Amino acid sequence: MRTQVGIVGAGPAGLLLSHLLHLRGIDSVVLEARSREYVEQRVRAGVLEQGTVDLLNEAGVGERMRKEGLPHHGIELRYGGAGHRIPFEKLVPGRAITVYGQQEVVKDLIARRLADGGKILFDVPDVAPHSLEKSPYLTFQGERLDCDVIAGCDGFHGVCRPSIPEGVLSIFQRDYPFAWLGILARVPPSSEELIYAHSDRGFALHSMRTPEISRFYLQVPTDTSIDDWPDERIWAELRARLETVPGFELTEGPIFAKDVSAMRSFVAEPMRHGNLYLAGDAAHIVPPTGAKGLNLAVADVRLLTAALADFYETGSTGLLDSYSATCLKRVWRAQHFSWWMTTLLHTFEADDAYGGRLQTSHLDYVTSSTAAATTLAENYVGLPFEPGA
Ligand code: FAD
Ligand code: DHB
Repeated sequence: MRTQVGIVGAGPAGLLLSHLLHLRGIDSVVLEARSREYVEQRVRAGVLEQGTVDLLNEAGVGERMRKEGLPHHGIELRYGGAGHRIPFEKLVPGRAITVYGQQEVVKDLIARRLADGGKILFDVPDVAPHSLEKSPYLTFQGERLDCDVIAGCDGFHGVCRPSIPEGVLSIFQRDYPFAWLGILARVPPSSEELIYAHSDRGFALHSMRTPEISRFYLQVPTDTSIDDWPDERIWAELRARLETVPGFELTEGPIFAKDVSAMRSFVAEPMRHGNLYLAGDAAHIVPPTGAKGLNLAVADVRLLTAALADFYETGSTGLLDSYSATCLKRVWRAQHFSWWMTTLLHTFEADDAYGGRLQTSHLDYVTSSTAAATTLAENYVGLPFEPGA
């Protein structure tokens, strides 16, 4: 088999790349380790930046998102017995976020690729990249896929990044001393906007998926197991961390999904080796507090598409050569923002009284200074894409 771009991974990065390449007349094949059902049901992100929404609309895959997505023009920071709204409409006029589940984006992209005759092979667990520096190819289940370039869109635990020879990549990493327990509940949201709550008991986040389904996250110890968290314990903890302002009551309902996610910051540089290009979580991870991971993956594949289109149309490798450096500027901005939001809102060592005071001072500053709130708002809704792609 032969294609122009061999894509490993059918997450948001791989699927969107395949679709954007198709719009530019470039052929690709997507190889995915898991089943279609599995990738369509995997519950993860929920917040799409303005630029991500615009790009999905421009690429003709935004129809259902426009109908079912929930535009939000602010978030609440809740701490010390009070709620403080960060008003996007005032601080970053014309920019907002849309709450629309990552698995809905994935479903929309898969449906569109298949309708356009795109090739996505599911259930291929043994993909291996070869000959990255010359004529690259992928092997899987006794088959060989020759390609001009390989796009490693296979997430943090994929095969592409580890296939780069030792010594090539520089790794930058930070682990956090807590994890997130996420749940989905069949209950209308108790708030119109997302609530990021800081308390002595730990961080809690009230989000949502639809007018009937709420999404919540709790800061939990890294060694926690889902079995430690029966439904009653989850609701009790959410109440303790969220019912901290007068008049706010959390509505409870049946929980139908639970997951635990590690919190990590990670960057591999450069995002290219020979003819292998990494995109999305395969190259970088952020803790989810800033809601940046999926949005960064979208920004990467937007640039990779432009670079590949320029190469096929003009023969120039200029944009391919600058792909990694251009991506990494945005990646590091998001790394800083995600680390900053995480540090601002989570509870660290209980005995670090100095750190606790700094945190309160920082929260007071962000919720009282227009300059500080604007810093949060413009990063949260997403900085504009790099021009030219
Ligand atoms: P992935 O989604 O990981 O996709 C990689 C794909 O490659 C998968 O389908 C995988 O099965 C496949 N694969 C892996 N190995 C192989 C292999 N060997 N061969 C073939 N295929 C393989 N981001 C946001 O922007 N906003 C948010 O609100 C947000 N909230 C989050 C909340 C949580 C709890 C978590 C955990 C993450 C959140 N994120 C958020 C981050 C976001 O979910 C990820 O950044 C995003 O999934 C990255 O997409 P990707 O396509 O790069 O990787
Ligand atoms: C969601 C996830 C996030 O990481 C975040 O910061 C906000 C919302 C969500 O899944 O809805």
